Amino acid sequence: MKKFIAGNWKMNGSLAANEKLVHELLDRVGRPSCDVAVCAPSPYLSQLQCLLANQDVIALGAQNVSQHESGAYTGDVSAAMLREFGVRYAIVGHSERRQHQAETDTNVAIKAKRALEAGITPIVCVGETQRERDEGLTDYIVRRQLAAVVHLVGPCISEIVLAYEPVWAIGTGKTATPEQAQQVHAILRKQLQAATEKAHTIRILYGGSMNASNAATLMTQPDIDGGLIGGASLKADDFLAIIGVAK
Ligand code: 13P
Repeated sequence: MKKFIAGNWKMNGSLAANEKLVHELLDRVGRPSCDVAVCAPSPYLSQLQCLLANQDVIALGAQNVSQHESGAYTGDVSAAMLREFGVRYAIVGHSERRQHQAETDTNVAIKAKRALEAGITPIVCVGETQRERDEGLTDYIVRRQLAAVVHLVGPCISEIVLAYEPVWAIGTGKTATPEQAQQVHAILRKQLQAATEKAHTIRILYGGSMNASNAATLMTQPDIDGGLIGGASLKADDFLAIIGVAK
């Protein structure tokens, strides 16, 4: 399966910084063996749509999508709006939103469905906290988080991208070992297999302090089909190095 490297810029960037980064990426990325996307903050989607026009190497992603279609939801951005700006992917259920915006499994599942309905591929994030891991709850947590989405979207589950992001590995420099990550990816794959015959075509990304030095080893694991990259996606050298080893 073709690997997928997605950058999650989180709440970083500026008009000037985005332009510099995207130009560097486009100048140097060539024809990578993997699919590539950058997920930018909403106000910059229009800028990114222009910067990424007339090429098909780097796709545009958003970091969230409203669970509502339209109407009185101040501050929300709908899937249809994202679509108008050429957005192909939308991260849903990132742990930072589950934590700081109190998003529940159900909210996340509805968001995934809204994205799919608008022709946007949701990148559904699951992952356990350090405490949950310590208590032996990792499998239960990730399975519960994925189950909500499977339950709501039904057969369309084959259209999603899944990302395993252990919360304790995000922005901490504490990457999961390839074995730890593979163990969880295998559990998720099995759960997908129970839901669809196309489970082998669903990409399961790893996210959490993935960088140029650990990416290659992580991606040699049988069920790790790419990466969701935070910090390292903000530096052209690092992001390009990760893209380079995703084969
Ligand atoms: P870091 O790569 O900065 O750890 O962030 C991972 C992440 O949260 C991507 O969504």
